[in-house]
Amino acid sequence: VTAALVGSCSVPGDKSISHRAAILAALAPGTSRIRGFSPAGDCASTLSAVAALGARVEGEPGDGSLRIVGPIAPHGRHAGPDADADPGANVIDCGRAGTAMRLLAGVIASLPMSATLTGDRQLLRRPMRRVADPLRLMGAEVGLVEDERPPIHVSGGGLSGIDYRMPVASAQVKSAVLLAGLLASGRTTVREPIPTRDHTERMLAAMGARIGVAPGAAWVERGGLSPLDLVVPGDLSSAAFLLTAAAIVPHSSLTIEGVGLNPTRAGFLRILERMGGDVTIDPDAECGGEPAGSILGRHARLRATLVGADEVPSAIDELPLIGLLATQADGVTEVRGAGELRVKESDRIAGLVRGLRALGADAEELPDGFVVRGPTKLRGGAPDARDDHRLAMTFAIAGLIADGPVRVDGISYADDSFPGFETVLGELTNGART
Ligand code: S3P
Repeated sequence: VTAALVGSCSVPGDKSISHRAAILAALAPGTSRIRGFSPAGDCASTLSAVAALGARVEGEPGDGSLRIVGPIAPHGRHAGPDADADPGANVIDCGRAGTAMRLLAGVIASLPMSATLTGDRQLLRRPMRRVADPLRLMGAEVGLVEDERPPIHVSGGGLSGIDYRMPVASAQVKSAVLLAGLLASGRTTVREPIPTRDHTERMLAAMGARIGVAPGAAWVERGGLSPLDLVVPGDLSSAAFLLTAAAIVPHSSLTIEGVGLNPTRAGFLRILERMGGDVTIDPDAECGGEPAGSILGRHARLRATLVGADEVPSAIDELPLIGLLATQADGVTEVRGAGELRVKESDRIAGLVRGLRALGADAEELPDGFVVRGPTKLRGGAPDARDDHRLAMTFAIAGLIADGPVRVDGISYADDSFPGFETVLGELTNGART
């Protein structure tokens, strides 16, 4: 068992907000300035995608002075004298970033252009009809492989607004439709079955879009955007790994500063508190319409909990960590209504349950979630992280309390969302951050 996590740190910029900042800045005429842009691999994919579509990207995510000059040209990189030479050749690589692919599908649908969105093998397996359906209703032509998977071919322009009730609670689908609505005639309304993260709505409002929100719904009307001047808060989804470590490693006491605290993202904090976690939240700042602040997390004795569908969207990316916390909690923890976990970077229900079991946990799959009986002493092993950043980091944190070495192949996938994960963790456990 590792030494306690003690000290304070920050985490890289929020990935969800960074994707949106890159895309919305690319739509606004003029120069946007973004500080704290995420250095994650997924966000680098979004930056190169908006550059391929004709926005100018100046500076680097890490150097504090990223600037994006928009608007993107309707013919992407073919803008200019030979704009019409071969519009079908616009192929945009989204890497492993599902958010980039889904949001950009909405953007391309809104513009008089055609492009193909593609990506890594892992992304090519993910469901995309959820975004194609509403964009087709608005008038775009959208082609998919077997009408489900990428590459997505989109021919856009001349869209009409729709009133769309989403069958899945997905912030990516909601955002794609709202972005398409920025250039559609009439009003575009999206209704969601359960509230999902509202970063797009907040950022659109900050950029002067004609947008309205009501519980469970958001609408936009055609209109321009002003450039963005944004400080991106730290990523709560990354902070959650460190807070989980602090909760399960005895004697830990850890402060994470400058973290985004948007309530539509903060389900993890509410669940951890319900499990008896010792967290103190100090919302002391606002970044670009997003609440932010510091979080103090300490080791605590944990108890089991139930997580139901209503809570899932606000904690979707942190549910693997709830599974790990549950191995150390008294009683039976159940997560339900989380079938979406099966279509993330990997099938996170199967991957989590098998990985935790490989470390000695008492865990079982449900079709739409999982059950964990705790507490159990974890042992060493080699869980399969399935090239999935969140599973890799979850198992690495499990290694802090296992009584033998835990080998995580593919821990470098952490760079997809949390570059520097291993360094920060190493410094916190050896006292270099106190
Ligand atoms: C995201 C929304 C969620 C989340 C993903 C990022 C976003 O996905 O899991 O990591 O930035 O909008 P869904 O919209 O598919 O639920």
